[in-house]
Amino acid sequence: MSKVTVVGAGAVGATCANVMACREVASEVVLIDIKEGLSEGKMLDMYQCSTLMDFDTKLVGATNDYKRSANSDVVVITSGIPRKPGMTREELIGTNAEIMKGVIAQIVRYSPRAIVIVVANPMDTLTYLALKASGLPKHRVFGMGGALDSSRFKCYLAKATGANINNIDGMVIGGHGDTTMIPLLSKASVNGVPVTQFASKKKLAEAVANTMVGGATLTKLIGTSAWYAPGAAASMMVESILHDQKKLIPCSCYLDGEYGEHDLCIGVPAVIGRKGIEKIVELDLTKEEAEKFAASAAAVRKTNQVLHEIKAI
Ligand code: LAC
Repeated sequence: MSKVTVVGAGAVGATCANVMACREVASEVVLIDIKEGLSEGKMLDMYQCSTLMDFDTKLVGATNDYKRSANSDVVVITSGIPRKPGMTREELIGTNAEIMKGVIAQIVRYSPRAIVIVVANPMDTLTYLALKASGLPKHRVFGMGGALDSSRFKCYLAKATGANINNIDGMVIGGHGDTTMIPLLSKASVNGVPVTQFASKKKLAEAVANTMVGGATLTKLIGTSAWYAPGAAASMMVESILHDQKKLIPCSCYLDGEYGEHDLCIGVPAVIGRKGIEKIVELDLTKEEAEKFAASAAAVRKTNQVLHEIKAI
């Protein structure tokens, strides 16, 4: 028996719940939203897919009723306002920090043993806030960003190299921001063979640039933030936890000396299993990558500073 709660029945939260239901990631999925009827309606709609898609997951929708989420093993927090075209993720901080604090209080109250995955933006800073506000241990609060950015990186690398998408390996670390994320070209490969053997430097540089603005490109096209890949990325992380898959996933982890950084949450590769973050893996970065990581950490720290300015922590 396993139970997951997704907070926020917007496009990302509902997609995450839907992917988890279809894949039977957990025995029960609860969706919570403040808007009357929204989560109940979406979960009823999803439940009606059971026989069509051959799944058997208990699905519960609850308007602001955290009692229904009690004793969740994992909680995914997607609630908050999404960005509009032209906005940065960082501009969402004031509104979303307030929402995060309210949600965290309810989670700690009803699911004190849960592992918390933060999806709302600005993700690295809200993960830091969730960790501080919850008082939970650092291996049980982390953020979804790197998994999504890495997935986008792999798509652009597949285009650049012409290789099969499922043969591509690639990882994005650093902050989950248009200028702070670091697609690691030095580690990207086609089934272990360096991507430089398959594409020109120019094409690979384009893949990196496209990855960094991957979210903004979608926001411009759709008019709001993306949801299919963000929802699937969060579901993949939940699956690695509940099925103890111990996948190596880039995600926003609290650093306490790793990568030479302290007291912030930022994207690094971590082994994700039933205990949450089971190990942070320190990569052998090139000099340029290490410099970019330090700059990314400085930028995330600057956004974290806003939490103090608005007295959120
Ligand atoms: C994105 C949002 C979810 O990158 O941060 O699409």
